[in-house]
Amino acid sequence: MKENYFDTLAKGWNTPQRKNTSENIKEIILNKFDNKPHSQVKALEIGAGDGILAILLSEHFSKIDCIDSSSGMREEFLKNKEKFMTENIFIYDESFLSDNVHRYDLIYSQKAFHHIVDIEAELRSLKEVIDKDGVFYLIDLCTVPREFHNDFPDFDGHDGFSKDEIYTYFENTGWEVTDYEIIMQGKRNGIDFSMFMAVGKVKQQ
Ligand SMILES: C[S@@+](CC[C@H](N)C(=O)[O-])C[C@H]1O[C@@H](n2cnc3c(N)ncnc32)[C@H](O)[C@@H]1O
Repeated sequence: MKENYFDTLAKGWNTPQRKNTSENIKEIILNKFDNKPHSQVKALEIGAGDGILAILLSEHFSKIDCIDSSSGMREEFLKNKEKFMTENIFIYDESFLSDNVHRYDLIYSQKAFHHIVDIEAELRSLKEVIDKDGVFYLIDLCTVPREFHNDFPDFDGHDGFSKDEIYTYFENTGWEVTDYEIIMQGKRNGIDFSMFMAVGKVKQQ
């Protein structure tokens, strides 16, 4: 079986820089979401890693279910959950989506989608678990050169996404993009990158 590279990164994932990014993303999410009082929100995070963003949001939301495909990340998530005494966040593997009977007011994902090979299949699954008035905040990389992931062995994900690609993925899967903005810029391995936030709603028939 192919090794999950994130298992090997998990223990060192929680750097001050990543924590700082998650703090900024937390503020963006909280400022943007006004569908209902934050204390009533049931959220789902896709690709939650070691849980830092979920921990930051947990004091504002009612409950956050999280999914991550790396067992190493899930272990770190549980350690952080205990360390920060966070009762209302939960971590599962990807099978959670198919078994799930819950409906979420907010689904969000930070820097995980470019690691998901079949974006349209993922978007179709998320449609099944979002509340009819729910929103999806997709936060990820704009297009980057292939070298961006040179340090990631056998990288089979996406070199970020163009705005057109995001609109097309959403359109093809019954979502609509209701807002799109560039929210952050940075440099990694000497390569400049930007991050976008796309807001999705399920298209009403
Ligand atoms: C670049 S990391 C980002 C982690 C976290 N969101 C953060 O910003 O610190 C990508 C995460 O997505 C997870 N991941 C990749 N494919 C996934 C999938 N199909 N379903 C759920 N999680 C996935 C990886 O295990 C990894 O923890």
